[in-house]
Amino acid sequence: MKNILIVYHSQTGNTEAMAEAIAASVREAGAAVTLKKAVEAGVDDLLGCDAVVIGTPNYFGYMAGMVKDFFDRVWFTVRDKMGNKPYAVFGSYGGGGLPAIESVEKICQGLGMKKICECLGVQRQPTEENLKACKEMGRLIAAV
Ligand SMILES: Cc1cc2nc3c(=O)[nH]c(=O)nc-3n(C[C@H](O)[C@H](O)[C@H](O)COP(=O)(O)O)c2cc1C
Repeated sequence: MKNILIVYHSQTGNTEAMAEAIAASVREAGAAVTLKKAVEAGVDDLLGCDAVVIGTPNYFGYMAGMVKDFFDRVWFTVRDKMGNKPYAVFGSYGGGGLPAIESVEKICQGLGMKKICECLGVQRQPTEENLKACKEMGRLIAAV
């Protein structure tokens, strides 16, 4: 069974709602999910999964500090081991759009990972339609 890692940060629940919708969809597709807040995730999670989905709110036009901290902690150990690992990125923003999501994507690309689907950014709280898009992301990542 495929194991999909979902790593995210969220303070007010918007990114978390997206993470939970993605996780539910991965499970519906028959894969296992490890759903972790970035502060709790580490090297073993990243090396042990078949694909990773990373979620961040936009904080000051960049990824949340906890997501950056996750990358900072794992970097030296994983940087030569992530080539071609499938990834997807999602998140929520206030009014500033996608730069936080793009900052995560830049790191995934720097690690040589394989993009599975378009990044998904939503403004503040996800709508039903946004959650459907999250489910589609989950379906695509579970199919790797
Ligand atoms: C410290 C902080 C900085 C933020 N900076 C931005 C920003 O630069 N641009 C933006 O669009 N939203 C910004 N926001 C708004 C959040 O991205 C937005 O409320 C998001 O939905 C929060 O996600 P969450 O509910 O998962 O915590 C900021 C929020 C916080 C707490």
